[in-house]
Amino acid sequence: MLGNFSYHNPTALYFGENALDYLNEELPKFGKTVQLIYGGGSIKKNGIYDSILEILEKNGKTVVEDGGVMPNPTVEKLYEGVRIARENKVDFLLAVGGGSCCDYAKAVSVSVNCNDDPWDKYYIRFEEPECEILPVGCVLTMAGTGSEMNGGAVITNHEQKLKIGHVFGDNVMPKFAILNPKFTMSLPKKQMTAGIYDIFNHICEQYFSGEDDNTSDYLSEALMKSVIKSSLIAVENPEDYEARSNIMWCATWALNTLISRGKDTDWMVHMLGQAAGAYTDATHGLTLAAVSLPYYKHIMPYGIHKFARFAKEVWGVETKGKTENEIANEGLERMADWMKKIGVAVSLSDLGATKDMIEGIADATIILDGGYKVLNRDEVVEILKQSL
Ligand code: NZQ
Ligand code: ZN
Repeated sequence: MLGNFSYHNPTALYFGENALDYLNEELPKFGKTVQLIYGGGSIKKNGIYDSILEILEKNGKTVVEDGGVMPNPTVEKLYEGVRIARENKVDFLLAVGGGSCCDYAKAVSVSVNCNDDPWDKYYIRFEEPECEILPVGCVLTMAGTGSEMNGGAVITNHEQKLKIGHVFGDNVMPKFAILNPKFTMSLPKKQMTAGIYDIFNHICEQYFSGEDDNTSDYLSEALMKSVIKSSLIAVENPEDYEARSNIMWCATWALNTLISRGKDTDWMVHMLGQAAGAYTDATHGLTLAAVSLPYYKHIMPYGIHKFARFAKEVWGVETKGKTENEIANEGLERMADWMKKIGVAVSLSDLGATKDMIEGIADATIILDGGYKVLNRDEVVEILKQSL
């Protein structure tokens, strides 16, 4: 049975090779001073920066530069972005990049007019914004997080060894997102596949919970099949537009609040991965890949029906003459093979974690209760050890 829910997603999407043209339609809706947020320089190399600057100038905008957003944006960078926005009386935040730029823009948007320290308010006390929120728009250059159509904003505090996501409401979601699959073509293969695994895991996090027959799970299965098929094509030929466009579209739908409607969700792979990320600063999707199989093997007995369904519906495992346990195991084996094929079969040690970090990572792991098994601390430690 589907539980009761409300659904509203206010982000306007523009998808395809000409999607950037729609920036001309969106910009007039917002004020004159635009904070142009971007990362370490990829958009200057691939020409996206020049195209956007031209559109901003044509629309009479005053541009305030805010580059250098790092993967896994830090709390120090957040303070800098807030200072830039305040000093220049910015009206609109335009994020051009991957999830890091988009998350960062949202974190700045709720902090500019807020007197409290944003880290303490949003990431330690998990309070909601009461202040005026600056509008955010996004031009996406990497498919993965779904940040372009959700309220998530993950910030890392290296000093406190914490990487925490706050999922804000509709009022913080980007007002629009421009999705041109061609913009993702310049991504290094490692980033592309890390993004692909992130997408896949977002779907798993919402799928592996509950036993009811509900539409959200059927949607999840369809998205997973599309990600698997397109990923295998994209690793062979990263220039394949059909595959890259399917991946980009799946990323958005994997985490734009749709497939979690009316059901519980798990999110423990993300909690483990984020805690490991706080210690290693490793690429988000790879931290998830490192902990996934040990975690899923551990919880499988508690959600055996769903894992068998996953094997049959997503991986096409033949069920005749096999026990539910055999079917479920075969599903995870197929998933492990796929991870190898696309190049995300990594361990936490590959990502720079060491044995002596395990206790700290376990302390930084937030334990949630929406999945098939509420982990205790010993189980967290055991899963992390197996992920090393
Ligand atoms: O910084 P630049 O030079 O732009 O390079 C970036 C960066 O090094 C590069 N890149 C992006 N697009 C490119 C490109 N390089 C060449 N060509 C392009 N077209 O890729 C690198 C990674 O970018 P980043 O934005 O960090 O990756 P991603 O999109 O995976 O975002 C990761 C962040 O999002 C958070 C993660 O925790 C992490 O902090 N997440 C946000 C979520 C949300 N809002 O809902 C959910 C996710 O689970 C995730 O936690
Ligand atoms: Zn993720």
